[in-house]
This record gives sequence, C-alpha cells and structure tokens, in this order.
Amino acid sequence: MRIDIITVMPELLESPFQHSILKRANEKGLLQVHLHQLRDFGLGKHRQVDDYQYGGGAGLVMMIEPMAACIKSLQAQRNYDEVIFMTPDGATLSQTISNELSLYENLLIICGHYKGIDERIRDKYVTREISIGDFVLSGGELAAAVLVDSIGRLIPGVLNDGSSALTDSFQDDLLAPPVYTRPSEFDGMKVPDILLSGNDGKIEAWRYEQSIARTKTRRPDLLDRE
Ligand code: ADE
Repeated sequence: MRIDIITVMPELLESPFQHSILKRANEKGLLQVHLHQLRDFGLGKHRQVDDYQYGGGAGLVMMIEPMAACIKSLQAQRNYDEVIFMTPDGATLSQTISNELSLYENLLIICGHYKGIDERIRDKYVTREISIGDFVLSGGELAAAVLVDSIGRLIPGVLNDGSSALTDSFQDDLLAPPVYTRPSEFDGMKVPDILLSGNDGKIEAWRYEQSIARTKTRRPDLLDRE
C-alpha cells in the first residue's frame, strides 16, 4: 500500500512512521508513506496557503488553489482509492473503517490547519472525511498518524504473527481479554492459574469470557451493535 499525505507540517509526521511496526512495514515493502509539503504549491513569493474567510470571523482558511494543485499533481501519477480529509466533523474512526481502508492500494490523506479548509476542496476532491474523536486538534497531522498506524498494522504480512491483529480489541466488537507475562507472581499478585494450565481449549474459553465481561462493564454499547 502507498499512502500520500498533504500537510503544512511534514516534520510532525516524520517520526511516527520511522519506528516499530510501521518502519518494519516500510522495510518489507508493504507500506510506503510519502509526505508532501503543501507550501511547495503555495501562492506568490511567500508561498501563501491560507487566507481570511469570506464573511468575516477569526481564523485563517486553507485556500483551494495550492491544495488543488498539490492534489492534481499527485492524481496525475496514480489513481487513489480514497482521498481522505482528517476533520473533527468527519465519521468517527473505527476498526471497521481501518479494516476497509487496509485493503486499498493507494490512499491520499489531507491534513487541515487553521480554521479549516475551503469547502470547495471537500466538495471537489475529498471522498471520505474521518475524525479520530470528539475533540479538536490543532491540525490533522496527529489524526493522520493515528489513522495510518491503525491501517498499517492490518496490512497482511506487517505483523509477524498475522493472527495478532485479529485478536485486538474491537476486531469482533469485543474488548481484548487481560494478558500477562513473566513472572507468574509479583508482590503476591498471581497470574490466573488457567493461563499456566497448558489447556488450550480452556484458555480460549477463559479469554472469551473475560472479553465479554470486560466489554459488559467498560463498553456495553459494543454488545448492542448489529
Ligand atoms: N483535525 C482536528 N481535529 C481532528 C480530529 N478530532 N480528528 C481528525 N482530524 C482533526
């Protein structure tokens, strides 16, 4: 998969993709993330990318010309399955959305800043709008990093143990069960005996029960979903 990201702050996105799982995904040739500085398409000698909003009001709005030029130059090189705008008024990111996006070949992500982006960019180029939650960030970059991380780990072959992504919380609308590692006892706190029993069937049943119990107490809304 290839993910292109348009941003005025590429520095914010450089580090997240250079570590751990996403770094490995890149080394394995499974995920390439390319950052594009919107300012390279800015207007005039100041490379302007934002301007005052029509109708008045505080806050600058990202202009359509630089964004359109940047998007068009990328679309001339490949077809994008989705052009995604990160915005607090988009659909809330879920495991279902990440699963769906992880099957695509080419994604283009647009990070907004300031007061927002000219609505015509959304009307003309954007095919999907995603929020990472009901709170406002200063820009779309951190939200884009969250989205890419959640998609990247689902691409087949990225995780060493392919089954591991399937047992994540939310993958089947249940929260994941508790996990333990050595030592088997710490300060009098013991790992549940069943996990040391070697009985795979019983362990699986215990984990399932724990998942249900945890979901009932922490996120009962998940159990009511279709
Ligand atoms: N940009 C600003 N806030 C955001 C949010 N909550 N989700 C996605 N993009 C954003």
